[in-house]
Amino acid sequence: MALKRSRAFALLVGLSLITGLGYSQFGGSANTGTGDPHARELVNQKCTACHGMSSVTGTAKYYEDWEDTRFRMQEYAQGKPSSFTEDEAYAMIDYLTDNYGVK
Ligand code: HEC
Repeated sequence: MALKRSRAFALLVGLSLITGLGYSQFGGSANTGTGDPHARELVNQKCTACHGMSSVTGTAKYYEDWEDTRFRMQEYAQGKPSSFTEDEAYAMIDYLTDNYGVK
């Protein structure tokens, strides 16, 4: 039974990686922050392509640290559909700082 469940979980994770929807579609650590809806959509799309939303929502960072993180993510995403432009990056950094900043 335990094996079955972990298989189902692996499938779910696999599917969410393929669709790029991440965990946000399956409850858990959905990104339901407030502010610019366009930026929220970007975070939902771009930042769940490689890991779950919990990697994002489970961290509190200062603006500069979100900026550092996105440079690293941008390198990983280079040439992939999950890559993003400078404008998109700054929209996301503002959004992340507002919603997942250090309080
Ligand atoms: C192309 C794949 C990819 C994309 C797209 C991506 N990430 Fe990541 N992310 C990774 C990998 C790989 C790691 C683990 C290695 C690391 O931390 O450098 C990671 C780790 C993280 C971490 C934990 C480490 C830390 O610095 O706190 C956070 C937070 C994070 N990502 C946020 C984001 C955000 C925000 C976005 C969207 C702007 C994003 N990721 C998009 C691949 C990606």
